Amino acid sequence: MPYLEFNAITKRFPGVRALDRVSLSIERGTCHALIGENGAGKSTLGKILAGVYTADEGEIRLDGRVIQPDSPLAARALGIAMVHQELAFCPNLSIAENLCLGDLPRNRLGWVDRAALRARARAMLDSIHADLDPDRLIGTLSTGQEQLVQIAAAVGTGAQIIVMDEPTSSLSAGETQELFALVRKLKARGLTLIYVSHRMEELFALCDNISVLRDGRHVATSRIADTTPHQVVTQMIGRELLVQEPKHLHRTRGPQRLVVDGLTHPTRFRDVSLAVHAGEIVGFAGLVGAGRSEVAQALLGLDPDATGTLRIADNEIAVGSIDASLRAGLGLLPEDRKRQGLVLGLNCRENNSLASLPALSRAGWMRRTEERTIAQRFAKRLNLKAPSLETGVGTLSGGNQQKVALAKWLTRDCSVLIVDEPTRGIDVGAKAEIYQLLDELAAEGKAILMISSELPELIGLCGRILVMRGGRLVGEVPRAEFSEARLMQLMAGVAA
Ligand SMILES: Nc1ncnc2c1ncn2[C@@H]1O[C@H](COP(=O)(O)OP(=O)(O)OP(=O)(O)O)[C@@H](O)[C@H]1O
Ligand SMILES: [Mg+2]
Repeated sequence: MPYLEFNAITKRFPGVRALDRVSLSIERGTCHALIGENGAGKSTLGKILAGVYTADEGEIRLDGRVIQPDSPLAARALGIAMVHQELAFCPNLSIAENLCLGDLPRNRLGWVDRAALRARARAMLDSIHADLDPDRLIGTLSTGQEQLVQIAAAVGTGAQIIVMDEPTSSLSAGETQELFALVRKLKARGLTLIYVSHRMEELFALCDNISVLRDGRHVATSRIADTTPHQVVTQMIGRELLVQEPKHLHRTRGPQRLVVDGLTHPTRFRDVSLAVHAGEIVGFAGLVGAGRSEVAQALLGLDPDATGTLRIADNEIAVGSIDASLRAGLGLLPEDRKRQGLVLGLNCRENNSLASLPALSRAGWMRRTEERTIAQRFAKRLNLKAPSLETGVGTLSGGNQQKVALAKWLTRDCSVLIVDEPTRGIDVGAKAEIYQLLDELAAEGKAILMISSELPELIGLCGRILVMRGGRLVGEVPRAEFSEARLMQLMAGVAA
């Protein structure tokens, strides 16, 4: 008898069938991978198990018994917890208060017993070897640390099954390794994990079994040992993935489009000088915290403390003026799309137009037809899964939100484009489309600076890669010398 069994689970949302008779089973004490394109239904399946959503049809069995987790609390009572990617706690309460919320220890007078509170939280954190001060406010933690607290909450309240939804998508390399070690420890203790991720290497390193969803349907479940990344990708997208050699590499590059000289910030970066030519994609590598995103933000004029000189297209620009940077033709796809890139209350079409309002309007009126045509074109290219372009962005799956944010900047016709982690949270099929799109933009003559933490994508796409460490540029590697080892050495600052 399977440990955990989904039987013909169906879930509908207005305009979409997120899950269509999904049946799969999960063995006790294993780490079970869930993969699929953006909008395939992974988060929805996890949320149904964790009591966030209720299935329209079908049943879930645990140890043979039908269970009905109709609220997160009910799921918790059944030993099921979910680690969400989004903030799940109150940022202005301490770790201890969050961990004991709903069951605060009290003393004889009815006051919250601070010492007991701290001790209980400490024990929960210790149970997963998390070295965090229980008195720290949640709001001061990094994403990785907050995740640890979520896991401590799950384990501390006796969870036997934990769903982790894209747990590593915003973790540093170090934090990722720590999370892996923790997952292995939990498994050794007999816990069962359901692990959602787009990072194939991760799934193959960590999981025992893998289930593939496509368009809300279950396609296959295999033992990791019996399948290959190539086979999984084919199952996910329903066809072979073609990877082409970038075209722009075969063109001669044009004049300098972005020239940065001596860009300096009192604490974040120092003396950064670089140039990007028309027709090239320059990679920007570094570990999390190296200062790459900070440099990008400063180039757009978002940092009042940055100094240095800047030339965009043929315009000398004062560093620190957003208006001037935008007008000169700079576009930036920011790293944190949820907070900086999208208006969750607006629909897909409106979000898509946000960065291009002047170009898309005439005498203050939106040119609707044009707006719609452009939005449709990008939706098609990026394989956007949304009931329609009029759907609110807030209800889209995580990856599809990313696609809207990306389209918004690609819609804007700029001569210099900085993209910060453009494929984060995006499925393999759409990633290939994004690479192809960036390649075409470069071949058309745009100058592109691409920040990414995924070395394979920089290696695949760029003509050269700049490496930043500790706020300084520490090297440039030409395509002929690309290798992950060489780049890692520069990024980490260790000798060859
Ligand atoms: N609350 C909601 N309201 C309306 N539609 C929703 C809601 N939640 C999910 N959906 C829709 O259900 C489908 C499946 O979404 P889900 O979030 O499960 O995808 P996913 O596989 O997790 O994708 P991603 O990799 O992008 O995170 C999508 O079409 C999405 O737009
Ligand atoms: Mg999701």
